[in-house]
Amino acid sequence: MISSVLPTYNRAPLAFVKGAGSWLETADGTRYLDLGAGIAVNCLGHAAPELVETLTEQAQKLWHVSNLYEIPNQQRLADMLVDKTFADTVFFTNSGTEAAELAIKMARKYWYTKGQPDRYEIITFEGAFHGRSSAAIAASGGEKMTKGFGPLLPGFTHVAWQDLDAVKAAVSDKTCAIMLEPVQGEGGIRPAGDAFLKALKQISEETGCLLIFDEVQCGMGRTGKLFAHEWAGVTPDIMMVAKGIGGGFPLGAVLATEDAAQGMTLGTHGSTYGGNPLGCAVGAKVMEIVATPEFLAEVNRKGGLMRQKLEGLVAAHPEVFEDVHGQGLLLGLQCKVAPTEVVAAGYEQNLLTVPAAHNVLRLLPALNIPDEEIAEAIARLDRAAAAIDGKAA
Ligand SMILES: Cc1ncc(COP(=O)(O)O)c(C=O)c1O
Repeated sequence: MISSVLPTYNRAPLAFVKGAGSWLETADGTRYLDLGAGIAVNCLGHAAPELVETLTEQAQKLWHVSNLYEIPNQQRLADMLVDKTFADTVFFTNSGTEAAELAIKMARKYWYTKGQPDRYEIITFEGAFHGRSSAAIAASGGEKMTKGFGPLLPGFTHVAWQDLDAVKAAVSDKTCAIMLEPVQGEGGIRPAGDAFLKALKQISEETGCLLIFDEVQCGMGRTGKLFAHEWAGVTPDIMMVAKGIGGGFPLGAVLATEDAAQGMTLGTHGSTYGGNPLGCAVGAKVMEIVATPEFLAEVNRKGGLMRQKLEGLVAAHPEVFEDVHGQGLLLGLQCKVAPTEVVAAGYEQNLLTVPAAHNVLRLLPALNIPDEEIAEAIARLDRAAAAIDGKAA
């Protein structure tokens, strides 16, 4: 008999009833140290006091009015995002997938508006993950995601990750946009690299095709810059944001330049919940905290500390781990065993980590994780690895 919850998830037999900072607790009071942060969502930890306060205060005033009316919190958050990024305009969604939908629609509408409706091809990359809607699975392209869901939305060309020649070969007079994660998340914490991003920007400038960055996982301070593309010194035309921007409240956004957004005129897109007063109150508080040089410097410092300790683990357990990659607090441990084995061994140490593709174990703690908890997490990971390779921790 089918379970009352549609059985699409492979869940661990753990049920948490409360959380604080980097800790989660089950009903019997057992505590787990969380290096997953809801897959890069709880950027300020669980039940962050500032966010609890903001949410409760807003909840007592107003939850939802619809986009039939002005929403001051939405305006404020849009202004903050425009102020801190390349963007001139913002549309709010409830998730990363919805942001992908709009990014794709916006790019196609751009060329339609410019009188070139045949320019609809979007180049995407092997290992990409842009969400689970029909458009997003067609954009992502992996068999695991698309099998059985055809016919898929046409107009996507998939090329190998970081393969500039393949991108150049794929670009044509039909190319509408190039869409990628500056650091692939689900694909195994694989940074595109500054040189690759710069080269894509050059192609975009030369051919006019739009550059879409999916910063759903790598954005909002995760890599130590507010957005990961800032490391490469290049800007996109359109960017998708979600996860961390709500700190745990469902919130997403599409940011765009005025030029890229020119097709999105009155009535061309909408959302019932997108940009509601609750979500935007929380999003604005997250921005106030995360988008400061002091906070981002701390993410960098903590990321460096964690990386250094992880490198020590790689040296201590060469049969389990191969190397560390990623940036800031978006780190991937390349495993020599199945990463799910390490995740399971982590559970035995009351430690939560997340597997990713290409044999990678993802470590994405709260961006404000205290140094002592980084040390504690590494000690637990060391014991988890020892349980696999038999080498004493
Ligand atoms: C890079 C990226 N894009 C899009 C998505 C989809 O976001 P959501 O699950 O909020 O719809 C994800 C989710 O993991 C993601 O990592």
